[in-house]
Amino acid sequence: MGQSSQGELPLVVADGPLAPAILERLAGKVALLPWRAIEDGPQDEVVGLYTYGHPQVDGALLDQFPRLKVISNYGVGVDHICLDAARQRNIPVGNTPGVLDGATADMAFALLLASARRVVEGDRYARSPAFTAYDPGYMLGREVHHATIGIVGMGRIGLQIAKRAAGFDMRILYHNRRERTDLPPGLNAQYVSLEDLLRQADYVVLSVPLTSETRGLIDSGALAKMKQTATLVNVSRGPVVVTDDLVTALATKQIAAAAFDVTDPEPLPRNHPLLAMDNLVLVPHLGSATVQTRERMAEMSVENLMAGLNDQPLPWRIA
Ligand code: DGY
Repeated sequence: MGQSSQGELPLVVADGPLAPAILERLAGKVALLPWRAIEDGPQDEVVGLYTYGHPQVDGALLDQFPRLKVISNYGVGVDHICLDAARQRNIPVGNTPGVLDGATADMAFALLLASARRVVEGDRYARSPAFTAYDPGYMLGREVHHATIGIVGMGRIGLQIAKRAAGFDMRILYHNRRERTDLPPGLNAQYVSLEDLLRQADYVVLSVPLTSETRGLIDSGALAKMKQTATLVNVSRGPVVVTDDLVTALATKQIAAAAFDVTDPEPLPRNHPLLAMDNLVLVPHLGSATVQTRERMAEMSVENLMAGLNDQPLPWRIA
């Protein structure tokens, strides 16, 4: 194991500040260097990289650390890490799959419901001086139960979203690279083309990983296929949607609303037009942000890191 100059602990570069749950688990096991250590040029003693808040990792960066043994990512999405570059250098990459599916699906539904039933707008109004009398005619929303949901990406998170949709008696459509034959019996999720999904769904929910195939998947052409009454929900990654095309679609009411956990760029510049739109509900990348899920992510990512540092197979290896 590569040791720190103090001679005891392996040196790991991490972007932070790291959450206490991670620091506690790493205490006494590794010596942490801040991400800016990369600016100091090649470092022979660094043996681990820990990525926390999606810092970009490419081949040039990896070449700064000739003795690197492992990259451990806090989270399931690894689009910020060039996996090919890691593979070419025989550096295993670990992530935290499975543990955040339920929390992320809960967030998809929180966003969907908040948008459909105007929860954010209603909260603002209920607190404002303007609310002086109940009016049965104000803030009518759209129904969720018995509506059609279209899930783009039927992976682990997509499946959890579908299960929640079934609880709301929704008609479930999904699109995926291929039809899934292993879905729970009784879920009644129908596999359709992306085009059919966009044309039929009242709620289009994005739960795909960001890859070269999904980058820009929802552009002006895709938005034009959606119903004018439809809502677009994104719990995947910002660049799956072309931001400028979304601005136009929301401004011209080509679609009714959007509810996003992620944006491109993230965060949006504070003067971005999307931030002034009241048919958008937005949260700051909170999909997996529950106490329980983040604990488990801490555990898994530290296990991956320590396994790599000890020349052991990573328990959750993505590349
Ligand atoms: C994930 O796990 O990919 C979340 O978006 C947090 O990084």
